[in-house]
Formats: sequence, structure tokens, C-alpha cells
Amino acid sequence: MKQDMILILDLGSEANPRLAREIRAMGVYTEIHPHDISAEELEALPGVKGIILNGGPNRVVDGVEIDAGPAVYGSGIPLLCIEHSGAPALSEDTREQTLRSFVFDTCRAEANWNMDNFISDQVELIRRQVGTKKVLLALSGGVDSSVVAALLIRAIGKQLTCVHVNHGLLRKGEPEQVVQVFRHEMDANLIYVDAVDRFLNKLSGVSDPERKRKIIGTEFIRVFEEESRKLEGIDFLAQGTIYPDIIESGTKTVKAVKSHHNVGGLPEDLGFQLVEPLKMLFKDEVRACGKALGLPDSMVYRQPFPGPGLGVRCLGAITRDRLEAVRESDAILREEFAKNGLEGKVWQYFTAIPDLKSVGVRDGRRADEWCVIIRAVNTVDAMTATVENVPFDLLQHITARITAEVQGVNRVLFDLTPKPSGTIEWE
Ligand code: XMP
Repeated sequence: MKQDMILILDLGSEANPRLAREIRAMGVYTEIHPHDISAEELEALPGVKGIILNGGPNRVVDGVEIDAGPAVYGSGIPLLCIEHSGAPALSEDTREQTLRSFVFDTCRAEANWNMDNFISDQVELIRRQVGTKKVLLALSGGVDSSVVAALLIRAIGKQLTCVHVNHGLLRKGEPEQVVQVFRHEMDANLIYVDAVDRFLNKLSGVSDPERKRKIIGTEFIRVFEEESRKLEGIDFLAQGTIYPDIIESGTKTVKAVKSHHNVGGLPEDLGFQLVEPLKMLFKDEVRACGKALGLPDSMVYRQPFPGPGLGVRCLGAITRDRLEAVRESDAILREEFAKNGLEGKVWQYFTAIPDLKSVGVRDGRRADEWCVIIRAVNTVDAMTATVENVPFDLLQHITARITAEVQGVNRVLFDLTPKPSGTIEWE
């Protein structure tokens, strides 16, 4: 293995992710594992130079204070115990010094955590886990699944089969990009499933947003299951689980961490073992990994996009004409933001199309057509958001393009509402 590791054992501290990041910022790789790691599990972890027992207020579970077992205390690996509850807080400087001295003096860890080393270690671990067997991946084209695909292609090539389900709710050019990058440039086994009609038929006449979400999610799983049944001899399912997914499903008790199951909500009874090579990476590290693996910037740095896709931006019951209008207007917005230096600056920007027509003038005649709403927001955690101050002349230019180029749209509105009172999406 190329990199040293400091292992953080979860004794119920909410500060584990922060601690992991602090040590990674020193150039040393970290992983967080449950407190009750067994001797075999510990032995299987490569390059462990030190162990930090990070306790906190949640250390007591069901009236019992949890602690690491003999596997840890008897391992001979240097240990540092940090206990948050009740102890007087250390100053930031003292804390940093204590950590540094533990990592570099006591453990003699080397600052060799970088993406190239991470990738070569993961390649080795994936090969070891998978052997000569076959792996299946649902490849949406989002950052996480794309990076997993690229990493697995590097590790096991054609032993990986990617399934891309086009549900008709992706942005303009996205399904084509998935095929181009993975099938043509990376030479992957890629099954492209055109499920557009199937999804749109299921969604026909459904206007309640939560029902729409549910239909899209359930149908996705069905299509994926059908495809996976057609394949033979698959033992592993790869998933783009990343560290924040695990944090969100609960780090407070060790149990919650262990019982975590990702992400696209794929059912457990598919009978596969999981391969989750990004599960210890934060989002910025996932992007760096994707870049190091040669994925295009437009894939690696793409803005957040909801799982149900344009389905929740074509408001109310989805119709094909409005779906096309929202896709085309979104493409124009993205093109203009890119041209005007806003692409990397604004956190999320898109168009939505309400089920609303208004009268306008087209070719000298009065005509009832749709309107499109532009949304452009900035946020840190998506819990609150502010509206980007988009230059007025750019908004006018985008309006002119959308009303000229997008069929059936005669008005463009700009959403000035922060979150709260609005949400980022319209439904
Ligand atoms: P809201 O609209 O709740 O959105 O302010 C916050 C962030 O979450 C995204 N979002 C979703 N992502 N499935 C997803 O994967 C969904 O159903 C969904 N709804 C909203 C939204 O795009 C924003 O980034």
C-alpha cells in the first residue's frame, strides 16, 4: 500500500468527520470505523500507523459506555484517546499540536495522502475484493457514480458492467455524454437503457410532487433490476456512496453507520456484495479523484442535480412539450452562464416550467404559450440559500434567446426568492 493511515474509531463523536479532515489536511489518510472493529478487520486495513479513539457525548448507548475491544488495545498500534464530554476544551493550537505530534512523532506516519496514491491503493483493494468476478454499477452520470465507474474501469476493466437508465428526465446532452465518455473513451461495458417512454407513461397525469418522486425512484429500481437479471454471473454491486451519505444516515451510534445502505435506494435482496470505493471521501476529494482519473470537467464539477431530475422542474403533471421546453431552456441558461463566467461561481441554476400559459404575441398574432422560470442560488449546505445577483443585461439576453429558440415559450420570469421562504426547487 502506498499510503499510511490513521484510523479513527467512532465512539459516538459528531466531530469524527472534522477530525478526519484535519488529519487529511496534514497529508495523512484517515478512515473512520466502528469502535468494535475486530482483530481480523483491523489486520485487513492497510497501512494503519495509529488509532484515535474519539469519544463524545453519544458514547453511552443504552446505558452502557462503549469502548474499543482487545483487538485495538492489544494491537500494539499507538493509540490516542480524545474525550469531548465534560473535559475542558483544548485551545485550537494545543489541539493541532497534540494531533500533529501524535501523527508524525508517535506514529511516524508519512504525509503521503494524495489522489494518485489513493487511486493506486483502491485499485489494489478492488482487485483483491473482486478477484476475477463481475461487478454491476448503476451509472447515472452524476459525479459519484461516474467517479466509481472510472475507478472500477481502471481496476477491473471489462469485469465491470455499467447500466445507464435514461428516464427522459436528464438534462440536455447528459445521456449522450455518459455513452461518449464511458463506452467510447474509456471502453467500458455499458448497457444503455432507453426507458423514456416507460417513465413518461407511468408519470402521465400525476401532478403530486411526492408521488412523482416515488414513481421515478421505484421505476428506476425496477428497470435496473430487470437489466441485472438479464446478466449472468454478477457477484458485486458497486455504489457511489460517499462519506457525507454515511454521515447523513447517522454517525451517532455505531449501529447506524454499520446498517447504512446507499443511495439510489437499491434493495438489499438483489443478493450482491457491495463495492463502495468512495465511501471514505468527501465531495471535493471525489471530484479530485475523478479529475485524476481523466473524467471531463463538465462531469466532475457539475452542479447538484436532483435524482428525479427534470421531473420536479416540469411542474405538476409532466407533458412532453413542457419537458422539452424546460430541457431546452435549461441548456440555454447553462450555456450563457458558462459563457459569462458564472458556471463555477453559482452553486445551482436551472429553469423550471409551471403549468401556466399566458397570452403573448408570436408572428404578429396573439398566442397562448408557456412561461419559464429562471432560478440561480448560492448556498453552503442547501438548508438556506440566497439568490445570485445575475446581471440584468444577461437576464435580458437569456430571455431573448429562450423566447426565440424554445418552442411554445413566450415569457421568462426570474425567481427572486431566497430559501426560506422558498425552497431551491419548485416542487
Ligand atoms: P430544496 O428544493 O429542498 O433543495 O431547497 C435542496 C437541494 O436538494 C436538491 N433536491 C433533491 N435532490 N432528490 C435529490 O436527489 C430530490 O428529490 C430532491 N429535491 C431537491 C435540490 O436540487 C437542491 O440542491
